[in-house]
Amino acid sequence: MIDMSSLKEKTIGFIGLGNMGLPMAKNILKAGYPLMVWNRTIQRTDELKQLGAKVASNPKEIAENTSVIITMLFGPSAVEEVVLGSRNNSFPLIEGITSDNILVDMTTNLPEITRDIAKAIRDEGGDMLDAPVSGSVKPATEGLLTILVGGKKETLSQVKPILETMGKKVILIGDNGAGCSMKLTLNIHLATLMASFAESFTFGVKLGLDPKTILDVFNNSALKTYISETKGQKLIDGDWSSAFSLSLMTKDLDLATEAARGIKIPIPISGATKEVYYACMANGKGDLDFSAIATQFEKMGNVRISKS
Ligand SMILES: NC(=O)c1ccc[n+]([C@@H]2O[C@H](COP(=O)([O-])OP(=O)(O)OC[C@H]3O[C@@H](n4cnc5c(N)ncnc54)[C@H](OP(=O)(O)O)[C@@H]3O)[C@@H](O)[C@H]2O)c1
Repeated sequence: MIDMSSLKEKTIGFIGLGNMGLPMAKNILKAGYPLMVWNRTIQRTDELKQLGAKVASNPKEIAENTSVIITMLFGPSAVEEVVLGSRNNSFPLIEGITSDNILVDMTTNLPEITRDIAKAIRDEGGDMLDAPVSGSVKPATEGLLTILVGGKKETLSQVKPILETMGKKVILIGDNGAGCSMKLTLNIHLATLMASFAESFTFGVKLGLDPKTILDVFNNSALKTYISETKGQKLIDGDWSSAFSLSLMTKDLDLATEAARGIKIPIPISGATKEVYYACMANGKGDLDFSAIATQFEKMGNVRISKS
């Protein structure tokens, strides 16, 4: 297992430099850890290279040259491709994994898949934590994420200083898979809350209420929420600039549906909501922020919230 006393001298690996991964990787570098990165679209490594990070030519090279490896990818199939390999990736991480490596997958993933990957990593002598995050691009940039960890306590204590460069709170939820279970538990609420807010907002506008009045009342009532406070004005402005994309939220609802099937429970509110997210995707809105679900309610109700 890796020697913690010299962790600062050991290079950290980072794979997946998207909206979240790039600011998170920058925070690791800023804290003084040497960094080696890889991203499928190589141009996304340019900024970190300029800041002093090394750039690997494939995931295997990351495993061979680093101790702790962070992955922050779109979802399960991307993680499987990067870690275990595929037709598109013939140099997967697993081929370089030894007892010197700890993989920390921060992707919002399916608990079952994360457990399978943890087993594959352990078979090579290493260890793995699932560590998805609560918080979007702003907290990622400011190093203020909440990190939800599944795995062994001893393994977490080895990598905690690195996680603390990205998050204000690191919570051990349980064994492998528990971090992802917690994240999906949060996100089905976030998805349905956003949709419910957008539906009631559209309803109020169609009844003839002024959007500004609706928002003001929401935010001064018992129904003030994170969504009404952070997304309400964006609905009025028609500002769908993406922090957390609609396609990522739809992916999380798919993961939750699969997890629910596995434990044989219904999640009917999430199920109905997922169909509206899918309708919005079908209308080409997948790359917009997930709050753009409001455009689907506008379309269904033949009404506009935004005057722009
Ligand atoms: N955005 C948020 O606010 C937020 C908040 C909490 C949690 N999350 C979760 O964090 C994760 C990352 O989110 P994000 O917003 O950073 O997503 P993103 O901007 O879409 O970035 C996705 C990353 O995954 C890579 N990728 C996708 N498919 C791949 C494949 N088959 N092989 C290799 N690399 C692949 C992309 O590479 P390319 O550059 O080549 O496309 C990119 O680096 C997701 O699981 C998301 O659910 C996001």
